[in-house]
Amino acid sequence: MLVTAADATRAGDALRVTAKDVAADGVVVLTLAHPGGARLADWTPGAHIDLHLPDGTTRQYSLCGDRFDARTYRVGVLREPAGRGGSAYVHDVLAVGDVVGVGGPRNNFPLVPSERYLFVAGGIGITPLLPMVRQADLLGADWTLVYGGRRRGSMAFLDELESHGDRVHVLPEDRHGRLDLPRWLGEPREGVAVYCCGPGPLLDAVESACAGWPEHALRTERFVAREQGAPVRDRPFDVVLARTGATVSVGPDRTVLDAVRDAGVDVLSSCRQGTCGTCETEVLEGTPDHRDSLLRDDERAAGDCMFLCVSRSCSDRLVLDL
Ligand code: FES
Repeated sequence: MLVTAADATRAGDALRVTAKDVAADGVVVLTLAHPGGARLADWTPGAHIDLHLPDGTTRQYSLCGDRFDARTYRVGVLREPAGRGGSAYVHDVLAVGDVVGVGGPRNNFPLVPSERYLFVAGGIGITPLLPMVRQADLLGADWTLVYGGRRRGSMAFLDELESHGDRVHVLPEDRHGRLDLPRWLGEPREGVAVYCCGPGPLLDAVESACAGWPEHALRTERFVAREQGAPVRDRPFDVVLARTGATVSVGPDRTVLDAVRDAGVDVLSSCRQGTCGTCETEVLEGTPDHRDSLLRDDERAAGDCMFLCVSRSCSDRLVLDL
């Protein structure tokens, strides 16, 4: 995993909503600040925070504001009619002046140094890419943003992107059709970092279009968990907690996270769907059955960490650094 030390997860800050603005059809932008005006934790482009909403839901949102503004965080929230409720609460109930719990920032999608970047955004996937294009600009990198969405009116932050001129290509689907990925990606080549965030079908299409590109050229972030097949094993397996030597049996209907928590180990979690990275745990022995949407293939093969909320075991026994 690529979580940087500077982005280590913190949890439990209570921040006040200081502004709530409509950024596009179906998208509101929240500005959050410490009620006492305290400085907020630093973050880097690609980072997200957890919002612990007053209705009991916890959701992750990419930070899309100015990383050099130490007093406010900004997140964009798409209303998702088929979602799990958090976005409806933010849109319909959450108001300026309300206080929400905030965890993080945490970064599973960091911007690596490169002389050239191609950013591909689909809809609300623009949010983590917005600070990235600012950073790329600041560093004098050669970059291009291709931004697709259903309609121009549903695409947030167009006004902020205008100043970047022809580096930014705004391509609403009702006028331009689906993004022409072969055109924008071109031939596989060295020295270009490709970043993509958006709906699952766009990510799948970019991943397959980048199949011939150099290893690690493409980096993606998924807001929705990737479809997974059946677990490798349907029999119980043992999880050994290395720090105490205790052994916990995990049956087919339990998550490793719940099993170790029941054993008294307090592992932080947030999304519980393998997308946020909060529950990452070091694996000391055994072979994890990775079921997250975060790890690259080489990180999966290394087998030295896993996400306890979704991942399981291929082996009879896993030893975790807990
Ligand atoms: S809680 Fe989000 S990855 Fe496990």
